[in-house]
This record gives sequence, C-alpha cells and structure tokens, in this order.
Amino acid sequence: MWKWWLLLGMCFWVLVMFKLANKFFICSLNSFNEYSTKQNPIQLIVTEVNHLQVPMEKSLQRESEAAEKAPSKEELNWEHVQMERLELLRNVCRDEALRNVTHSRISRFVLDRIFVCDKHKILFCQTPKVGNTQWKKVLIVLNGDFSTVEEVPESVVHKPEKNRLSRLSSFSKPEIEKRLSSYFKFFIVRDPFDRLISAFKDKFLHNPRFEPWYNRDIAPEIIRKYRKNHTEAMGLQFEDFVRYLGDPNHRRLDIKFGEHIIHWVTYVELCAPCQINYNVIGHHETLQEDVPYILKKAGIDQIVSYPTIPPGITAYNKTKVKQNFSRISKRDIRRLYARFQGDFKLFGYG
Ligand SMILES: *[C@@H]1O[C@H](CO)[C@@H](O)[C@H](O)[C@H]1NC(C)=O
Ligand SMILES: *[C@@H]1O[C@H](CO)[C@@H](O)[C@H](O)[C@H]1NC(C)=O
Ligand SMILES: *[C@@H]1O[C@H](CO)[C@@H](O)[C@H](O)[C@H]1NC(C)=O
Ligand SMILES: *[C@@H]1O[C@H](CO)[C@@H](O)[C@H](O)[C@H]1NC(C)=O
Repeated sequence: MWKWWLLLGMCFWVLVMFKLANKFFICSLNSFNEYSTKQNPIQLIVTEVNHLQVPMEKSLQRESEAAEKAPSKEELNWEHVQMERLELLRNVCRDEALRNVTHSRISRFVLDRIFVCDKHKILFCQTPKVGNTQWKKVLIVLNGDFSTVEEVPESVVHKPEKNRLSRLSSFSKPEIEKRLSSYFKFFIVRDPFDRLISAFKDKFLHNPRFEPWYNRDIAPEIIRKYRKNHTEAMGLQFEDFVRYLGDPNHRRLDIKFGEHIIHWVTYVELCAPCQINYNVIGHHETLQEDVPYILKKAGIDQIVSYPTIPPGITAYNKTKVKQNFSRISKRDIRRLYARFQGDFKLFGYG
C-alpha cells in the first residue's frame, strides 16, 4: 500500500515541476515582449510566477520597483518646469489689462473641443498642429478598441462615427461640471506664429488630407476681402491670411467658415485656459519631455504609449518664422500680435 502512496506522491511532484518549468519558459519569452501593452495574458502569468519566487529574489525585486517609482532628477526638474508654466498662466489670467485676450466663455464651441475618457478620468482639449492626432490615438487605445497606438488606422482617428471618442459637449450640464472639476485635464500649445505658418501650409498649400473646402470655399472669401491687388490671380498667400486673422472684425468670416476655424483661432478661444483649471499644458517644442510627464500624471503610463516622435519635427526655427513674416507689413504683424497676445503671454512665448 505505501508503494502506491509513494508513486502518487512522485507523480504529483513531477506535475508541479513541469508546471513551474512551463511558467518560467513563458516568462523568458516575455522579455521579447517588453514593449507590448501591460494587460496581456503573458503579463498575468509573469505576476503569478513572481509569487512563487524565493524570498530573496522577491525583496530584490521590490527594491528595483521602488527605484523605478522614485522620481529621477530629470523628472523633478520637469515637474518644476510644469509648475512654472501653471503659475505663469494663473498670473496672466489675473491681469485685468489682458482680460480681453485671455478670457473666453466655456461655450459649446469649447466643450466641442474637449475629448472625454471616463474610464481613466481624462479630459483632452484638442488644439491642431501639435500632435493632436496622436493623443486621439492614445484615447482610442484607452477606450479599449485597439491595444496599441500603432494599430489605430488614420481612417478611424479622424472619423467621429468610427473613433468612438466622446466630447464634453455631449453630456448634461451637471455631468460636464462633475468632469471639469474632478478629471485630469491637459492640452498642448506651440509658438503662436509658428502654429499659424504650420496651419497655413497644412490647409492651403499642401492639404495632405484632401480637404478641398479650404482652397475652394475659404481661400476665395479671404482673398476677396483682404487682398490689396486684385489683378494678382494666385491662390491664397500667407499675407492675405495674416490680414484676415489680424482684422478686429474677423468674426463675420469666422462664422461663415464654421468649425474649420479651429486651425487658426487662439488657444484661448479653443480651450478657455483661464476658466478651466488644466493640470498640465504641454509645449510642442518640448513634446519629448512633456509626453512621458503627461502619461504619468494622468496615470496611464503603464497602459499606453505615445507614438514615436520623429526627430526634429517639434523644433522651433526662429529664422524660418522670421523669413515667413519678412514680407508682411508692420501694421499687419502688429494687428496679428494684438489678437494672439493672450496665447503669447499665457504660455510664455513672449
Ligand atoms: C476689450 O474689451 C472692451 C469691451 O468689450 C473693448 O472696448 C476694448 O476695445 C477691448 N480691448 C481689446 C484690446 O480688444
Ligand atoms: C498688381 O499685380 C499685378 C500682377 O502681379 C502687377 O502687374 C501690378 O503692378 C500690381 N499693382 C500694384 C498696384 O501693385
Ligand atoms: C531654419 O530655417 C532656415 C530657413 O528655412 C534653414 O536654412 C535652417 O537650416 C533651419 N535651421 C534648422 C536648425 O533647422
Ligand atoms: C516659410 O519659409 C520657408 C523658407 O524658410 C519656405 O520654404 C516656406 O514656404 C515659407 N512658408 C510660408 C507660409 O511662407
């Protein structure tokens, strides 16, 4: 009889060893998958294996985890940069002399700009030409429709009926207020004049997304109203565009152009930064540092990654901006600055 018990015991032992070996094998496979998303089955298996490890290994592992969690020197410096940005914003918002150019109502237009992620309590205000498409991909991944940002097709990102991103404007007033007061809120800005050059190139010169209405409907309207020499038959020039933007009576055309104006109206008008208490304001020029900071502050750095930022695309080139404005009259530049003064001051661009 005892022989049977021994045999049974041995069988059990072999089974346990086999299972352990199996798990460690899967664990080593995982090292090839370091950059995949965290909540996959392999990851779950690894945490299971970790429970079986001997105590010393466990404590070592805890130490390294602690080291990972403690903020590095660079992170502390970046925290400092971010705090200074928010302080500057608060001070400029309080400046009565600038009130006109820094304040705007939390209108339907603003609520339409803000994307909501209820699952992770995040609000993201959309500001074009600063990598905003990439953040939309991040939100789509957080919604659970795709597991990585690389898998989200461009055709999905820009189609409201396909991307399933909800906007703050779709909620009731109390629901909006609840989210505004408790969610993590952020948006990205860049040098205001550089942004206008970029918008002009993207919508009126290159038009890579085949949006014909910019050159078919909007450009002729601006030319008719603002071009000085009507014998010149060329398409919209940067000079015409600047004159429209700097005109104190630009609103009449804005209303005609509808939503498309999001590409050139001020950040103040898009996101109401003095009315809404944003937690982080990223700068396109420092996106490389701001992206990990935002992901961490929003508590999603373990769940999702931002697409790789191509080197050089976020760099600000003063020479280029100056060249582009060299043909614009002093008066028009002054008027343009007057309109965008709020954006310049609030975000520290001068
Ligand atoms: C600010 O607003 C007041 C009242 O609407 C107006 O009279 C004034 O011209 C505005 N100033 C600027 C700089 O827009
Ligand atoms: C207007 O443009 C045409 C064509 O470029 C040019 O020949 C003409 O001299 C310009 N007129 C003025 C007043 O600049
Ligand atoms: C900045 O722009 C100018 C003019 O387009 C160009 O010649 C120069 O190489 C650019 N500088 C950098 C650092 O990219
Ligand atoms: C701005 O200047 C660069 C050269 O520095 C030129 O290639 C580009 O077309 C200009 N853009 C506009 C909008 O004038």
